[in-house]
Amino acid sequence: MKIILIGFGTVGQGLAELLVGKADELRRAHGLAPTVVGISDMLKGSCHDPAGIDLGRALAAVAAGESLTTLPGGCGWSALEMIERASADAMCEVTYTDIKTGQPATDHIRAALAKGMSVTTTNKGPVALASRELAELAASRGVRFLFEGAVMAGTPLLNLVRESLAGSEIREMKGILNGTTNFILTRMEGGMDYAAALAEAQALGYAEAVPDADVLGWDALAKVTILANTVLGAALRPSDSPCRGITEITPEQIAAAAADGKRYKLIGRVWRDGRAVRASVGPQLVEAGHPLAGVGGATNAMTITTDTLGEVTIVGPGAGRRETGFALLNDLIHIGRRP
Ligand code: HSE
Repeated sequence: MKIILIGFGTVGQGLAELLVGKADELRRAHGLAPTVVGISDMLKGSCHDPAGIDLGRALAAVAAGESLTTLPGGCGWSALEMIERASADAMCEVTYTDIKTGQPATDHIRAALAKGMSVTTTNKGPVALASRELAELAASRGVRFLFEGAVMAGTPLLNLVRESLAGSEIREMKGILNGTTNFILTRMEGGMDYAAALAEAQALGYAEAVPDADVLGWDALAKVTILANTVLGAALRPSDSPCRGITEITPEQIAAAAADGKRYKLIGRVWRDGRAVRASVGPQLVEAGHPLAGVGGATNAMTITTDTLGEVTIVGPGAGRRETGFALLNDLIHIGRRP
């Protein structure tokens, strides 16, 4: 499988590390021999080598602050030029998320699908704003469009719903969908101040490039919109749903809640309301004994209410370099099984 990476930030590098570390296992267990033939990053440069880029060398170059153009096959190609000129089976789209426009990622995905490449992305913008159009384009070209890492990183929520809960009616999904804010709230309960907790979340690779998207709730809003549209079949735009973040919660409120046996959590919810589908994001006080109260740090959790099983809850990492890189790897395995 020949792959191009569009974006080589935290998540793209997380995938590259997994491809290097798991090369033998991928071949042995999944018959998959992925070769990255192109990387294009707006800030880190581009390289293209049809014989395969040495990913260890690419990782070392960016760690040293060197451009990818210094590698063999270094070139000045933009993302769209890479998609047009490289011959590949799959594209991983991991540029920054813009939840308002979905760009430039949506154009990258359109171009790759139109060219007949399967696409995996962790980018929430295009999936929240254009999932139906992109899925239809993929189907018309006989390729796949997968985005497991757009919600709950590599924790397999979308796989669970698509595969393991097939045949169940999903009535509601409710939980913690943003790692950064859950991390900040957890740290603030421990006495750390907001700015220090946010800085730690950024250093750990949890936060968005512009962390407003996390703390104002937009990232969770993108995720509930994705769930509404791809799981419950709605056609919501992010702006259709109410959204509040955590910036108005004070340390005093957190301490008072703790003294009262409660915790603040940023809760994302999608649900059926008659024939309509609704979504919301906002902070809620959760009783200490509630299952979501114990979900700390960057961990996410989602309770899915079904007609067959009642409630099913999945808990796991919702952000992070390796954790999100894994979602791309898993999508690539699925693409390899059914191109
Ligand atoms: N910034 C996001 C979060 C990354 O903190 O959850 C994963 O989507």
